[in-house]
Amino acid sequence: MSFKTLDDLPADLTGQVALVRVDLNLPMQEGRASDVTRVEAVKPTVLELSDRGAKVLLLAHFGRPKGQRHSTMSTSMVQGDVERVLDREIMFVPEVTGPVVEQALGIFRSGDIGLLDNVRFWPGEEANDPEFARGIAAVGDFYVNDAFSASHRAHASTEGLAHLLPAYAGRAMEAELKALDAALGNPARPVAAVVGGAKVSTKLDVLEQMVRKVQHLVIGGGMANTFLAARGVNVGKSLCEHDLAATANRIMDEADHAGCTVHLPYDVVVAKEFAANPASLRTCNVHEVAGDEMILDVGPQAVEALGDVLKTCRTLVWNGPMGAFETPPFDAATVALAKTAAALTQDGSLTSVAGGGDTVAALAHAGVAKDFTYVSTAGGAFLEWMEGKELPGVAALTK
Ligand code: 3PG
Repeated sequence: MSFKTLDDLPADLTGQVALVRVDLNLPMQEGRASDVTRVEAVKPTVLELSDRGAKVLLLAHFGRPKGQRHSTMSTSMVQGDVERVLDREIMFVPEVTGPVVEQALGIFRSGDIGLLDNVRFWPGEEANDPEFARGIAAVGDFYVNDAFSASHRAHASTEGLAHLLPAYAGRAMEAELKALDAALGNPARPVAAVVGGAKVSTKLDVLEQMVRKVQHLVIGGGMANTFLAARGVNVGKSLCEHDLAATANRIMDEADHAGCTVHLPYDVVVAKEFAANPASLRTCNVHEVAGDEMILDVGPQAVEALGDVLKTCRTLVWNGPMGAFETPPFDAATVALAKTAAALTQDGSLTSVAGGGDTVAALAHAGVAKDFTYVSTAGGAFLEWMEGKELPGVAALTK
């Protein structure tokens, strides 16, 4: 995969205007971002461009305002968080095109950073309207996309601009694309995929793609119940999409043909009610789940066996927790397997790439996010990448 990076720009960018697409769609709590990982991710790009003398204009969306201004969805809501993380003052510009932006640039000095308002306030953004994109591009000398997590959208600021200005991947985008390529584009084999989460229906395309690409597919979380039930296991009151039994069987058949081993838990942690440390908690073989019990985590023997599988692998792609990890003790399998993967990564025997909101939270909970080779904060974009889809924002940079 080839694309231009900031290394392809002149060292001195004095006098040039950089339009930089970042993802500032931050989770908020009481008017402040509760997680600034996405700002930290783009900090190297923004500061590098500023230090090299460019006037930097940040382009971002915030929520889904559907082409209309909403004061609660203005990017000014996150200005303070961005300033704190960058440790720089930035100027908020309440437009994305036209005289207000031009006037702001007129008073900018070299290295100054501006934050344009929510690009989704204008319908041209999501419509990828060339006229709208030309309006944004009019003030820029070049375009940088540092928002992998928004690049599954073919919008003006993620895709259209790349065709109007010289386009470069920012440092975060560069790292993300390299890591993803190492994980599934051109991986060292054997490759294992861990796919968990509540429902098979939301990850059908991911599963179909994984059985074709990896040698070991570990299915965990609620979705494992659907596969177990499809194999005739009584999963009691467990979360289970019984109507997807045929689909689950087809995926297992496809895996067989492709030489991919599907790993389902053979022991499980069950309880009669879903609560922290319930009295009815017990661990049993999957064939011993009672009618009034539900499976809430993968059991310890299965986790140990999965750890042994990972020891034989060179590459791991992880999306989704193994159990109901937010409620103890149903975090045990996710934590144990994450620790094994982290240790193998640190030993140098495994390249481990993980992504998706729940997964990042689960790995952070296990205390191992920093020990993985790469953890992507992208949600939808990471899933679409796992589904083997072309991401428009990435394609525009690489073509
Ligand atoms: C995200 O939060 O996953 C990205 O910013 C994309 O947001 P969207 O799903 O509203 O396009």
